[in-house]
Amino acid sequence: MFFKAATIALLSTMAASSPTPTTSPKYPERLSSENFRLVADVKSNDLNPSIQNYVLTSYHTGAGLAFAVLQPNETATSGRIFYANGTDEDIRYGHGNVLSDEGTPLFPGGIVVNPPFPTPTPGSNPEDAEIDLSINAGVGTSGVGITRFPDQISNLYSSAGEGFYACMKDLMYGPAVLVFVKQHFVDTPKECADVVLLPQCSEGSGAEHPFGKPSSCYADVAGTDWTVYHR
Ligand SMILES: *[C@@H]1O[C@H](CO)[C@@H](O)[C@H](O)[C@H]1NC(C)=O
Ligand SMILES: *[C@@H]1O[C@H](CO)[C@@H](O)[C@H](O)[C@H]1NC(C)=O
Repeated sequence: MFFKAATIALLSTMAASSPTPTTSPKYPERLSSENFRLVADVKSNDLNPSIQNYVLTSYHTGAGLAFAVLQPNETATSGRIFYANGTDEDIRYGHGNVLSDEGTPLFPGGIVVNPPFPTPTPGSNPEDAEIDLSINAGVGTSGVGITRFPDQISNLYSSAGEGFYACMKDLMYGPAVLVFVKQHFVDTPKECADVVLLPQCSEGSGAEHPFGKPSSCYADVAGTDWTVYHR
């Protein structure tokens, strides 16, 4: 009897609290383009100076090797141009990769999700093993792409985690804002900013991309007032 009453009470609470939407959520208009730049939208704990609207680019450390870093958008061509690569199935099932052309003549480089470093051992603290991103010559890591329908916001994802964060780090030629994958169940280090990387539609590099696929992207990320949209 008690059980039944409790069930009824729960059901009526659910009915009473189910929201009656008056306006549907608003999302910014998305375009489609093969090529895009990636722009940082800070979700929490911005760095000083702010990295809001910084663009993703490479910090070269050796031939064909670079860290993926955020830098101020200084000119219309700041930030590398990326594209999603893969077969239709790769893209649909999230197995594609994100590439970018580099060098002369142009050859592919890709976003690489580096293995956790230092390598986790039994009992080690997962927060001590960070996953940073590189942009290296080659094919990049599969499982990286731009979110698609039914996601209402298009942003970079990596299957290695649930988003990204960025931290000022002393790298070999001086400090830079390095990008990391936010691992499941691991807190962002307190000196780092949680960021979403939003694609801004771009012209291409000029190279042909036989497996380049269209991605949803925004016309002007920095010029959009994101506060009026449902996120
Ligand atoms: C960078 O800034 C220029 C203005 O100088 C602007 O046109 C462009 O949209 C910005 N690019 C990105 C990717 O934010
Ligand atoms: C692009 O994706 C296709 C299909 O999976 C693959 O064969 C090709 O190697 C990829 N290209 C590059 C440059 O990674």
